[in-house]
Amino acid sequence: MKRTPTLILLALIISIPLKLTAADSQVSLDTPPASLEQWYKPANKRQVWLHTMFRLRREMQAIGEYAKQDDRDAMEKWIKRLDKDYSKIADMVPEWEKEIKPRLLSELEMFAEKSDRYRLEETLDMIQRTCDDCHDSYQPLVTALYRSPDYEDIKVNGLDGNKQSFEDNMAALSESVNQVLIALDDGHKTVALQASQNLADQLQNLGDSCNSCHKEDEYPRERILGKATQQRFEKLQMNISDWHVKDSQKLMGEIAVTVCARCHNTHRIVYDLRNALMPTE
Ligand code: HEC
Ligand code: HEC
Ligand code: HEC
Repeated sequence: MKRTPTLILLALIISIPLKLTAADSQVSLDTPPASLEQWYKPANKRQVWLHTMFRLRREMQAIGEYAKQDDRDAMEKWIKRLDKDYSKIADMVPEWEKEIKPRLLSELEMFAEKSDRYRLEETLDMIQRTCDDCHDSYQPLVTALYRSPDYEDIKVNGLDGNKQSFEDNMAALSESVNQVLIALDDGHKTVALQASQNLADQLQNLGDSCNSCHKEDEYPRERILGKATQQRFEKLQMNISDWHVKDSQKLMGEIAVTVCARCHNTHRIVYDLRNALMPTE
């Protein structure tokens, strides 16, 4: 059992409504079977499980649409595909065999042959229920566990030239931010100047690690650490030099929002959630 606030947050992030009542303020999510891991990166080259799911949804939609048009050939084509992918669920994760009902697929085929649209659609609904049941129990946790980024192996250059972990880089950033704010508060201009320069350098080093996930894509780095951020740092240095304390504090606030918070909103929340939800051995 997990505490409610975490789960509400999880639900917000991955858009899955959780029904909560005053009487029942706890929700449980089932831990997915270990054999699922092999169908996800990095164990697998591709997100095989997820792509099977996308195909299932497409196949269900195609069958529903062709049923309305009574196009038997097209239905047959897509029922064959659905049959194949639906049975893959139990092939890939044997522990989930009991979650699916392959006999519904033979029935689907039979009703399609007979052009019995009413029972065909009823059967489609029954198949959909097996999808929904499994999703209700497992989907949020699987998404958090297997599809959230991992920062463990990323190394960032420290100010002393040594490599540091992502986490240590974060601790150092936080220290520099507070050093600037404390020095501004207490009238220590040289310290404030040095600390703000350190912060800019630390962020520059952090920026070199973005491409370990974002690869060739320059845009994510530009969005958070690009021209707008550089200009804020230049303005900050000038304002500290001229000892405009209020303006400097305001700029620090802007940096905290547009750099730290903006990045945390996409990266840190999911990471923290995954760690909180990760089943302990
Ligand atoms: C890549 C975008 C990114 C940027 C930019 C960023 N952070 Fe982080 N931050 C993260 C991630 C991801 C984590 C959680 C991973 C970890 O702790 O290793 C984190 C964790 C933290 C933590 C907690 C560390 C701990 O010990 O658990 C602090 C404090 C922090 N960041 C401060 C900052 C400050 C201050 C800034 C801005 C000056 C900043 N971060 C900018 C991504 C970012
Ligand atoms: C035995 C469990 C199980 C069954 C049965 C199942 N799914 Fe899934 N499905 C999952 C899990 C787990 C995820 C989460 C995967 C992820 O986020 O990487 C998922 C995710 C999905 C997604 C992706 C949602 C998104 O946009 O992120 C789709 C679409 C989907 N399933 C369709 C279907 C359809 C259609 C069926 C029935 C024909 C079905 N699934 C049956 C376990 C199941
Ligand atoms: C461990 C992997 C990882 C690292 C390292 C990482 N990101 Fe991301 N980032 C992601 C994932 C996953 C997403 C969400 C999917 C996507 O947009 O690619 C994302 C999304 C983003 C987005 C929102 C989507 C967009 O393209 O506008 C921005 C901005 C971003 N990252 C900036 C950064 C910056 C800046 C850094 C380095 C300081 C960084 N990221 C480092 C994994 C990472």
